[in-house]
Amino acid sequence: MTPEGVKKLIKMGYDLHVEKNAGAASSYPDSVYQEAGANIIESRDSILKQCDILLAVQAPDEDTVNKLKEGAVLIGFLWPLQNKAYVDLLIKKNITGMAMDTIPRISRAQSMDALSSMSNIAGYKSALLGANQLDRYLPMMMTAAGTIPPAKVLVLGAGVAGLQAIATAKRLGAVVEAFDIRPAVKEQVESLGAKFVEVPMDEEKETETKSGYAKEQNEREKEKQKEVTHLHAKKSDIVITTALIPGRPAPKLITREMVEDMSPGSVVVDIAAEQGGNCELTKPGETFYHNGVAIMGPLNLPSTLANHASKLYSKNMLSLLDLLNEDGKPNFNFDDEIIINATVTHNGELISPFVKENS
Ligand code: NAI
Repeated sequence: MTPEGVKKLIKMGYDLHVEKNAGAASSYPDSVYQEAGANIIESRDSILKQCDILLAVQAPDEDTVNKLKEGAVLIGFLWPLQNKAYVDLLIKKNITGMAMDTIPRISRAQSMDALSSMSNIAGYKSALLGANQLDRYLPMMMTAAGTIPPAKVLVLGAGVAGLQAIATAKRLGAVVEAFDIRPAVKEQVESLGAKFVEVPMDEEKETETKSGYAKEQNEREKEKQKEVTHLHAKKSDIVITTALIPGRPAPKLITREMVEDMSPGSVVVDIAAEQGGNCELTKPGETFYHNGVAIMGPLNLPSTLANHASKLYSKNMLSLLDLLNEDGKPNFNFDDEIIINATVTHNGELISPFVKENS
């Protein structure tokens, strides 16, 4: 929560306590929170037992949850599909857990969509990391010493992160191609000036869930996609991979053979590294070379743009709290599609239909 967000919450009727140095790494010093009206607390333990709502980025550890009072509300990236033991803990402790990552991706929830805020940053940074690692120019260069053709970038997965990677690589002057298994994405890719790579798919099969997320492909489709991807990866200077399927490990789209067919000096930026990676060779958190090709598996990219990541996340949480707010208190109106899907646990029960359907 930024100091600006703190001010707005105080206006809504909340009493705000901010952990000492909570904003230091994102360039928001304690003094600015104090000026905004927050109380700076030296140790989190002193407040955990009393607070009604705990706002966090990632899910706080078990020890922290155990110190919360019964009925407290916890809001953050809880990842309930990947973290069933954590959901059980919230149920056992009777904590209301609201997951920023299960807010439905509908128009009315856009201002609360923290997944999009963070994916946008990750996509933007992935293109910059690739450009920085590459030993070539991205834009076409016409110089007295000769003409350099523009670099070729291939983006796999054109959700929020992939689209931002495309836009950033285009702005840097690269020629960009992209692929996603959801055909609806083709138009969005083309509107950014990139070429959509066509992979013949089983026509009958739905590739998208009703929440708008990708479904896992069958083996035949995976093989078809690999064949086409191989041809395009081979010609690319940078391959950026962003493909995810909720609650599943990231699909493996770039094989060892594909990397070995890429030209030395090219780069794979695998931002699905946190979910195991889209490239068979990715080592999460590391950059290394395989046959002269750099394989990058960056983790937690939003933290590399911490100031803006906090600004956006703060706004996203504020919008959710605004929706929940009734006279300075959260009101859990489960007739609201956003509230019911974001509420993972409440009164010792699993609530979110999104979590139930995808678990
Ligand atoms: P994500 O981070 O879950 O996945 C990234 C992309 O990888 C997706 O586009 C997915 O289709 C793709 N993918 C999965 N398997 C693949 C494979 N084998 N090969 C190639 N690509 C593959 O997705 P994200 O960015 O979170 O978006 C999810 C959905 O939510 C999208 O439909 C997006 O348009 C929608 N959305 C809607 C919003 C709204 O209306 N408010 C806001 C943001 C997103």
